[in-house]
Amino acid sequence: MANKFSFTLNSGNVMPALGFGTYAPQHVEEDVLKAVRIAVKAGYRHLDCAAIYRNERAVGQALKQLIVESTITRKDIFVTSKLWNTCHRPDLVRSSLKKSLEDLGLSYLDLYLVHWPMGYQEGGEFIPRGKDGNVLYSDVDFVETWKALEDCVDEGLVKDIGLSNFNSKQIERLLEVARIKPSNNQVECHLHLAQNKLIEYCKSKNITVTAYSPLGSPGNKSAPHTPALEEPVVKQLASQKNKTPAQILLRFLLQRGLAVIPKSVTQVRITENFQVFDFELSDDEMTQLTNLNKDHRLSTEDIALKHKYYPFYDDDLELAIAIAWCLGLASAIAIAWCLGLASAIAITLCLGLASAIAITWCLGLASSIAIAWCPGSGISYCHRLVSRSGISKCHHLVSRIWQLLPSLGV
Ligand SMILES: NC(=O)c1ccc[n+]([C@@H]2O[C@H](COP(=O)([O-])OP(=O)(O)OC[C@H]3O[C@@H](n4cnc5c(N)ncnc54)[C@H](OP(=O)(O)O)[C@@H]3O)[C@@H](O)[C@H]2O)c1
Repeated sequence: MANKFSFTLNSGNVMPALGFGTYAPQHVEEDVLKAVRIAVKAGYRHLDCAAIYRNERAVGQALKQLIVESTITRKDIFVTSKLWNTCHRPDLVRSSLKKSLEDLGLSYLDLYLVHWPMGYQEGGEFIPRGKDGNVLYSDVDFVETWKALEDCVDEGLVKDIGLSNFNSKQIERLLEVARIKPSNNQVECHLHLAQNKLIEYCKSKNITVTAYSPLGSPGNKSAPHTPALEEPVVKQLASQKNKTPAQILLRFLLQRGLAVIPKSVTQVRITENFQVFDFELSDDEMTQLTNLNKDHRLSTEDIALKHKYYPFYDDDLELAIAIAWCLGLASAIAIAWCLGLASAIAITLCLGLASAIAITWCLGLASSIAIAWCPGSGISYCHRLVSRSGISKCHHLVSRIWQLLPSLGV
């Protein structure tokens, strides 16, 4: 860090901590030209641009006017631009950078960022969509994109290169192969999205962090119920210090050691947002603001949710997914086990019943057969006894009696 509110990047170039965001709806291109002029005259010396904002020509016109009027020289101003997702293929990187330079009317950039880790299908619209309306992805590895960016540094087209919306694992992967280390990671960060872990990680790797949407992007549809600018603590601190809520929010991030790039097309706000160097927040006030973190992300780039390089599966989320997965697996096993046991019991019981029926039936049959057979055979035995020996014995007895009758005088 060169001083409290600027950063010395890997190239030795100095980046002012307070920059001016230039993203604005397309229909206000004229406003962007005016806004950049107002910003530079108000003291901003850092402009945040990008090809996808589709207004780099307007920014370039403003810069040209300011240089011609001698308000600034090229060296006085730090200009960032970003490589869009449809240009990740290494052979497209240089031409994309050249296009931004041409639109901005510059011969070099101070910082060029890979806007997102995920690439979209090359060669067409900024947001290429298939017939089903889904965004068409490209699977170019951002590591390959990075190598092409390094070549652009070698050629003198840009002083520093960096990242935007990258998570720590993606940065780690890049650092393993990078010949030129990233100087900066630009990520969403404001009162409601602290990004503590990512910032800590970047700092440990000597990568500066720029907070985009530093005012919480008021008006953004996915903002929480109470926008950052409306938070009672912020309003109270603002009135105590005779400052505005926007100034409190910006100062809070600057004191966290971050660069900030608020955007406005309103003259009074542009000026107001630059008046943040004449007051300080105490440790206690910083803590009060820190406690308002909600980990609420506004820019989710949902259209790329299924992309293999989608960045917002952070460590906590991955841990939560892992735990949920383990719990799911454990419950699945438990349920399966219980179901298995229950079915085993049920089957045994049913089988038992079936076997009982079968056994009873068999026994019944057997006994009925036996019963039927035994008496039958008993009867037939008796019958046989009677009819064979019995009758013959009777016959013999009768014959003997018959033979004795005359001797008896009958
Ligand atoms: N790398 C990325 O993926 C990425 C993503 C988003 C943004 N960015 C960069 O970050 C910049 C800022 O982000 P952002 O535009 O989303 O959010 P922001 O700067 O937090 O908020 C901009 C909004 O706040 C209003 N505003 C500005 N100053 C104000 C003040 N003093 N009081 C009340 N309202 C005020 C502006 O309205 P008016 O304009 O009407 O005054 C505008 O609607 C962008 O311009 C862009 O350069 C980068």
